[in-house]
Amino acid sequence: MEISGLEDEYRLAAGMPMLLYVKRPAPNQEPGLAKMLDDIRATGKTSYREFTTAKELEWLLADDLAVLLSESFADATISTWALRPSSAAPGESGRTKLPSGTVTFLLTDIEGSTQLWESEPEAMEVALRRHDRLLAGVIEEYGGRVITSRGEGDGFFAFFPSAVAAVEAAGVCQLRLGREEWPTGIALRVRTGLHTGEARLRGRDYIDHSPINRCARVRAAAYGGQVLLTNATRDLVAGRLGGGFGLKQLGEFRLRDLAEPQLIFQLTHADLPADFPPIRTLAGRGGNLPLQVTSFIGRARELEQIAAALGEARVVTLTGPGGVGKTRLALQAAGQVSPRFGGGTWLCDLAPVRDVAGVEDAVAAVFSLAARAGHTTRDVMVEFLRGKQLLLLLDNCEHLLDGAAALARTLQRSCERLVILATSREGLGIEGERLVPVPTLGVPGADADLAAITEAEAVRLFAERADAVKPDFAVTDQNAAQVAAVVRRLDGIALAIELAAARVPAMTPAELARRLERSFGVLAAGRRGADPRHQTLRATIDWSFQLLTEPERRLLCRLAVFAGGCTLEAAETVCGGDGTDLDTDIVFELLARLVARSLVVAEEHGPESRYRLLETIRQFSEERLGEAGEIERWRARHADYYASLLPRIRDQSHDPGAEVLWARLSADQDNLLAAWSWAIDIGKVDTAFFDAGRLRAQRGQD
Ligand SMILES: Nc1ncnc2c1ncn2[C@@H]1O[C@H](COP(=O)(O)OP(=O)(O)O)[C@@H](O)[C@H]1O
Ligand SMILES: [Mg+2]
Repeated sequence: MEISGLEDEYRLAAGMPMLLYVKRPAPNQEPGLAKMLDDIRATGKTSYREFTTAKELEWLLADDLAVLLSESFADATISTWALRPSSAAPGESGRTKLPSGTVTFLLTDIEGSTQLWESEPEAMEVALRRHDRLLAGVIEEYGGRVITSRGEGDGFFAFFPSAVAAVEAAGVCQLRLGREEWPTGIALRVRTGLHTGEARLRGRDYIDHSPINRCARVRAAAYGGQVLLTNATRDLVAGRLGGGFGLKQLGEFRLRDLAEPQLIFQLTHADLPADFPPIRTLAGRGGNLPLQVTSFIGRARELEQIAAALGEARVVTLTGPGGVGKTRLALQAAGQVSPRFGGGTWLCDLAPVRDVAGVEDAVAAVFSLAARAGHTTRDVMVEFLRGKQLLLLLDNCEHLLDGAAALARTLQRSCERLVILATSREGLGIEGERLVPVPTLGVPGADADLAAITEAEAVRLFAERADAVKPDFAVTDQNAAQVAAVVRRLDGIALAIELAAARVPAMTPAELARRLERSFGVLAAGRRGADPRHQTLRATIDWSFQLLTEPERRLLCRLAVFAGGCTLEAAETVCGGDGTDLDTDIVFELLARLVARSLVVAEEHGPESRYRLLETIRQFSEERLGEAGEIERWRARHADYYASLLPRIRDQSHDPGAEVLWARLSADQDNLLAAWSWAIDIGKVDTAFFDAGRLRAQRGQD
């Protein structure tokens, strides 16, 4: 079938919000259309939904509009916050400091607003003016700031420094809306979502949209008259709400596009309606795949190959050198096939696990399982997983091949519906394993024209990441040849390309190409024999490292002692402060710059951000630390910090907001274990005997 018309439309609309509504192509009849849809899905930028009834379509539309809206709002936040006083980092003059810190977002909209506009335009005009005045008044009264009012859905977007004030304001809005005398025929029913998160930099000037998106998803789940909030907000307000307000837990729900299930609460009050239909969420899927904040590029063929392999083999291993993109590809593939797995898709990262014996515990921890009297961890795990149709993603197996292989064999034998997707530099070497080698990203040939250059995967990745740090960056006739030279020089290795693209604010592609040519000549010389792609990556990491300032380097190296990432507070206390040469106050600034250079990954975790090194970078940093003879020093500080975190959490465990600490504790399990095993290895008794057992018992009683 000829589909060029549709394809052209799609291309012409690039960069604009699009809604494609397609009847499922019949197998074999419309291969062109099927391929086009697959390509669109593979870009990873589309929200691809299936629906069967008109009602479902209506919900999907309402939902997607809500997110679109929140994204345009998010841009508005930049201009507001940019007015804040700037604080220049050492060595960088006068850059505007965008918001950092935790705020509570409030998003509202009017249920059925479009219909009301159609049926009662004049009355709606009047009603809406009152609505606007009322909401703006309450938000201001409670110390909030309106970012935008009257978007699509006639909603408000505001943020509050205080979570309690935000929640009370949302409740007071509902109470006053309920008491308002509306013009005939119009009763405005407002739905509200609240979420607390960190307003965060991405790259140099961007706000991370994920907390705002989460808030929009929560709002989209609500009905008119209902106020919903996330557990992040609940944790900060529990027991502290005045004005007769209370909270009711509705349970854990899967919201569209959010990887982890969200615990949702409803605001209650004697004068507000209490009973609503079950909230609108994505049912059925489960798992713990992390939300990816950067876009996914290309890989259509590999995704197809992996999807097919997962249907045929019970253990599929993606192999390839570090930084080539195995983990990212595995996450994307797992997300795509997740509808096939009723038991969910679950990620277990083995990078922080030190020895073979720890593999089972790491997998058990993913499902919160532990050995119990008379049953080993393995027994408990097998019993739990048996019969479940579940995809287990075992990431970073290379340093524990035997342990991963033994576990995969056991699970293969005892849990007949479980499928394992592993990533590793080499295969696990077990029977029935299907290997899928992950190639480097496609690079343009030496004689490629502009179109061919911009379409190459490696160039697309470079352009996307460069655009994130330098918003006006584009591949043009002027720079295309140099960009092509850069990605060719980097062998299409995803991580190397990200590191180079992060330098675009300071260097043009031509300068980059020259610099790489020069430093690689030096760096790669005399390293024969190893995998050339490995050499390229090493050289790129080395090069990015050389370009860092001295304090940035110090921080990066020290971050290598964390297992599974850390909070800002942990980075400040372990890597800086008393007895070190880094001032606590500058750690955040340094961290933000390392994030901008793609050397550190920032992730949203409940109300807190966590900072993590990709495993390849962590190993590199650890080596540098080792060369300086400093590993033990920073491990000791790491262990001290985590040992002192536990009693602190215990002391505060009944204070309001203690849940935030619990959330931190659960995210820090790998760090606690690392601290503990270090202390035991070294015979450091005080640290080794920190009181983990008592904490567990106490948590059980809460
Ligand atoms: N197809 C892709 N699209 C976008 N980013 C990618 C892609 N492949 C890899 N990356 C990015 O490149 C970096 C290295 O990839 P990763 O999956 O961690 O490599 P590996 O697991 O092979 O070491 C990560 O920051 C990742 O997000
Ligand atoms: Mg990996």
